Amino acid sequence: MKLYLDTANVGEIREMAWLIDGVTTNPTLLSREKRPAAEVLREICGIVPGPVSAEVTALDAEGMVREARELAKVADNVVVKIPITAEGLRAVQALSKEGIRTNVTLVFSANQALLAAKCGASYVSPFVGRVDDAGGDGMSVVAEILTIFRNYGFPTELIVASVRHPGHVVAAATLGAPIATVPYEVLKKLFVHPLTDAGIARFLKDWQQVPKG
Ligand code: E4P
Repeated sequence: MKLYLDTANVGEIREMAWLIDGVTTNPTLLSREKRPAAEVLREICGIVPGPVSAEVTALDAEGMVREARELAKVADNVVVKIPITAEGLRAVQALSKEGIRTNVTLVFSANQALLAAKCGASYVSPFVGRVDDAGGDGMSVVAEILTIFRNYGFPTELIVASVRHPGHVVAAATLGAPIATVPYEVLKKLFVHPLTDAGIARFLKDWQQVPKG
């Protein structure tokens, strides 16, 4: 399973670069950096060799394609995030013919993911945390999408997005999701367990009792 970092913060990305397989950004994450987005994106693409998602803000297909071409020029590893709308999918079709990789974002249903895969999306991003927040079950949407992709052999890869806690990562891995994109604070939590800390403390304490030769 691949782990992406869901952030536009280069400090966080540098710290985790040895572990992560890619990065996802979005306009909200980039707005927190208070620097020109293209500058931040270029820097991120220089740190992480894997896919780095950056989102278009146009709402019409032509505008999205124009923006996507500009984003794709920033670096070879840029993947263009396109929201799941009819216009977005028209853009995805056009971009896939040009060989520009796309990540169809703001996916909340299996049907949206099916359409994105049919249009040639490289990735789809179901937002599990936001589905849960709205009273649904984000992971059951992920399970449905994985089944559909398997049934028809779609090459589109699923990125579990809007991850809120370590339980989401376990659920994604248990379902066999190929990728989860995880915020920095959640990624840090994956390393730790209170019994590990207690175990280390106990071993160090006991080690003091071992006679030194
Ligand atoms: C991923 O591609 C999205 O940018 C992100 O996971 C959204 O997460 P949020 O629902 O916590 O904003």
